[in-house]
Amino acid sequence: MKLLVTGAAGFIGSNFVYYMLQSQPELMLIGFDSLTYAGNLENLAALQAEDKKRFHFIKADITDAAAVAKVIEEEAIDVVVNFAAESHVDRSIHDPQVFLRTNVLGTQTLLDACRQLWRKDGQWVAGKKFVQVSTDEVYGSLGPTGEFTESTPIDPHSPYSASKAGADLLVRAYHDTFGMPIAITRCSNNYGPYQFPEKLIPLMIHNALQHRDLPVYGDGRQVRDWLHVSDHCRAIEAVLMRAESGSVYNIGGRNEWENIAIVNKIIEILRDKTQDQDINDGLIRHVEDRLGHDRRYAIDASHIQHDLGWEPSIGFAEGIEGTIQWYLDHRQWTENVISGEYQRFYEANYAHR
Ligand code: NAD
Ligand code: TYD
Repeated sequence: MKLLVTGAAGFIGSNFVYYMLQSQPELMLIGFDSLTYAGNLENLAALQAEDKKRFHFIKADITDAAAVAKVIEEEAIDVVVNFAAESHVDRSIHDPQVFLRTNVLGTQTLLDACRQLWRKDGQWVAGKKFVQVSTDEVYGSLGPTGEFTESTPIDPHSPYSASKAGADLLVRAYHDTFGMPIAITRCSNNYGPYQFPEKLIPLMIHNALQHRDLPVYGDGRQVRDWLHVSDHCRAIEAVLMRAESGSVYNIGGRNEWENIAIVNKIIEILRDKTQDQDINDGLIRHVEDRLGHDRRYAIDASHIQHDLGWEPSIGFAEGIEGTIQWYLDHRQWTENVISGEYQRFYEANYAHR
């Protein structure tokens, strides 16, 4: 089986490449990524010579129809897993347009190439599948109780989640209209190695190590459901190997945390590991809230559990400790990925809050 992994140089995409090479020894993988600020070949630098016999990388944009068609045709791709996206909510508030271009038009460009190339004599060729990596953010926000199920209405609030909802609905539309073989996953917040330090957990680790302010949006009592990235990768593997065409699966960790509690946890673990007493809650600064900030996400993942036998395997205590250790062991990685562009974003996002 040959897999095209778009967004392979990003956080989840790179973790997925490592995971699948280990888990599926027969598989061939092709990474396809335009290397935006969030995509770094350094994320794939731990691939061994053995792995490279089954993986190669193409630098290209998912909105480039010719490049997309070329790789799907020439490499005889069986499964596309579409991770490629603009992924950060705060950036989507500053500059929505690129989110529409990549997340909506890019997904449609991939879908169209598959629609052209995966049919013979009016029939879909057997064994093909398009897996869209969507997000729980398409459901919008919850109150203090309840969980998103797959039938919760789509109700996105940020330009990011609206663009992901557009992509998600387009994938479903290609199934309903053309009979295209697809599956959609909607996962909660991921954490783990190689996450770009604009997202909550790596940003707090990085800032705390430098004794910089820890900018908590609003009251910090917003809730996210955190899942280790390798559990997400295992869920996508189950979906691409075993899900029926047209299926939609929620993926989550049953692991809800208020942001402020996560930040305090990071402080506690970092202080313990580094013995640096200047890492303490005096660094926390409550700043102006994010516009349109979703209050709470929580996932009911019972459908994937019952259908495909998936459940999370990494407890949060173990997962967050391992993740913090990874960032301590890879401080140079953080320095390398936060380019000049990131410094400009940081200034624009935080300076006037
Ligand atoms: P990321 O920002 O770390 O990585 C995105 C990757 O896509 C980068 O390598 C980037 O270079 C690439 N990319 C961006 N635009 C591209 C384009 N036009 N053409 C080709 N490549 C392009 O994101 P992530 O956190 O790894 O998220 C991956 C996917 O998972 C996204 O679709 C995101 O919406 C979804 N998701 C993320 C989370 C999470 O918590 N991080 C949760 C649920 C779903
Ligand atoms: P983030 O990692 O951006 O993920 P998402 O917005 O996709 O859930 O943010 C997670 C939560 O942390 C979210 O409620 C916003 C909050 N947050 C802060 O309080 N401060 C920050 O500097 C960042 C980046 C996020």
